[in-house]
Amino acid sequence: MALVGAGPGDPGLITVRGLELLRRADVVVYDRLVDRRLLAEAPRARRIFAGKASSAHALPQEQINALLVRHARRGRRVVRLKGGDPFVFGRGGEEAEALARARIPFEVVPGVTSAIAAPAYAGIPLTHRGVASSFAVVTGHECASESQGRVDWARLATAVDTLVVLMGLERLPQIARELVAHGRAAATPVALVRWGSTDWQETVVGTLADIAERARRARLEPPVVTVIGDVVALRERLAWFDEQALPIGAVR
Ligand SMILES: C[S@@+](CC[C@H](N)C(=O)[O-])C[C@H]1O[C@@H](n2cnc3c(N)ncnc32)[C@H](O)[C@@H]1O
Repeated sequence: MALVGAGPGDPGLITVRGLELLRRADVVVYDRLVDRRLLAEAPRARRIFAGKASSAHALPQEQINALLVRHARRGRRVVRLKGGDPFVFGRGGEEAEALARARIPFEVVPGVTSAIAAPAYAGIPLTHRGVASSFAVVTGHECASESQGRVDWARLATAVDTLVVLMGLERLPQIARELVAHGRAAATPVALVRWGSTDWQETVVGTLADIAERARRARLEPPVVTVIGDVVALRERLAWFDEQALPIGAVR
């Protein structure tokens, strides 16, 4: 039984170990953001879609956990294939806990997380000498009523140089407002990278002051990684994956 990171989208970004396990799997339980070309690497395996959209869950988490346990108990080689890295906002930790509770031996194969890969494919290094020496990855998807595990935007606003927000598109206006209210300059550059590392990658660039409006005008939809910080400006020189470096506000 293995929890395998599929990488952010480009199927070439799965690890050698992940691909090895995938190729000899009997059962593959996969997420919505996993590229179909990776599934083709396991043609004889039973493939089960478990994936989630932010509002609609194909299978509740408890059922996914139970499914993994059931197949593993039958002696099958099970690969739980998850977008990006299994332990970065992927609920891989919960699945590992369920396996541990059921005393099923498992392996975790880390993946290339979209938190790093989407900015990289947009030409944005998260740290850069003289520009940024720290970064944080946070979720933008949180309920106001959830007191546990809430992101402390007030402290984060000035605590790190680069902020990477996953699942943050819906709450982008509030996030930008909170960061500015707590001391981050309104002129701080922001990039929204949609479908990073895929043929559909598109990037919208602006500042904390206007990024929400730019996203709205571009009719941007998830999945999006939001990068906030001065490193975003490097994209003008480093946008290697885009056809050309685009001016601020442009959409690929
Ligand atoms: C439930 S989280 C899973 C993150 C995943 N475990 C990872 O490490 O990348 C889903 C969010 O990841 C981000 N995401 C995943 N793949 C992406 C991609 N190719 N481009 C942009 N954002 C992506 C989006 O913010 C999306 O809403």
